Amino acid sequence: MKQLLYFLLPSFLLLACGPQERISKSVFDEVNNAMEAKKLSDAEITQEAMIWGDSISSEAQRQLMERLQMAVAEKGFVGAVDFCHLNANPSIKELNDKHGVSIRRTSLRARNQDNLPTDDELPLLEAYQYNSENNIENEPNIQKIEGGEVLLYTKAIVIPSEFCLACHGDTKSDINEEVLNKINALYPDDLARDFEVGELRGMWSVKLPKKSVVNRL
Ligand code: HEC
Repeated sequence: MKQLLYFLLPSFLLLACGPQERISKSVFDEVNNAMEAKKLSDAEITQEAMIWGDSISSEAQRQLMERLQMAVAEKGFVGAVDFCHLNANPSIKELNDKHGVSIRRTSLRARNQDNLPTDDELPLLEAYQYNSENNIENEPNIQKIEGGEVLLYTKAIVIPSEFCLACHGDTKSDINEEVLNKINALYPDDLARDFEVGELRGMWSVKLPKKSVVNRL
């Protein structure tokens, strides 16, 4: 009986939510079958999601940093603001297609308002912020979202060096006037200023379909 309930409960819940969720049910079954066939536990899946999320976010960070440094070397900081404005998000999105996932950066103090947190991301960012203010180390995290079909990987982004302050630091001492004018013109609602080295700047947020995580195992 217990076993029957176990199987009935999820399908009842899914059917109760209407036609759209029926697609979810087939994905749900598929993932469950794959998990059973491979005898995978939730812990193994979470661990694999952590490894994959770590590798994707590191690749994204490396790529962005290389391109940013190149833009600064070629065009100076003012020109590099334009570069970030046009290229930061598309550059990250390139990796979405490559890996079949959804990567972004989000921040409580965003420059680009599209990077403000979603409902799923907000509590995680707030926890990272709390830890950061209380000298508690921030660990990467895996959270089940979208009815468990997606695993959300998150990792804190800390200001690593003074390089970042040329565009995110003190508006009087770190960001020069020309750069500040450019930022003000492009981002009238900018919140991403007055940061210091070592402060939490935001987080990487990578949505990993559970199905793809299972397929990697
Ligand atoms: C040349 C100026 C410049 C430098 C240097 C710079 N940034 Fe930014 N940063 C920007 C701009 C412009 C954006 C907004 C990009 C957009 O429109 O998506 C941004 C956005 C971000 C975001 C996304 C969240 C948000 O606020 O929209 C993060 C996180 C971030 N920067 C971190 C860093 C870190 C960490 C460094 C140092 C390694 C750094 N930045 C160096 C200009 C800069």
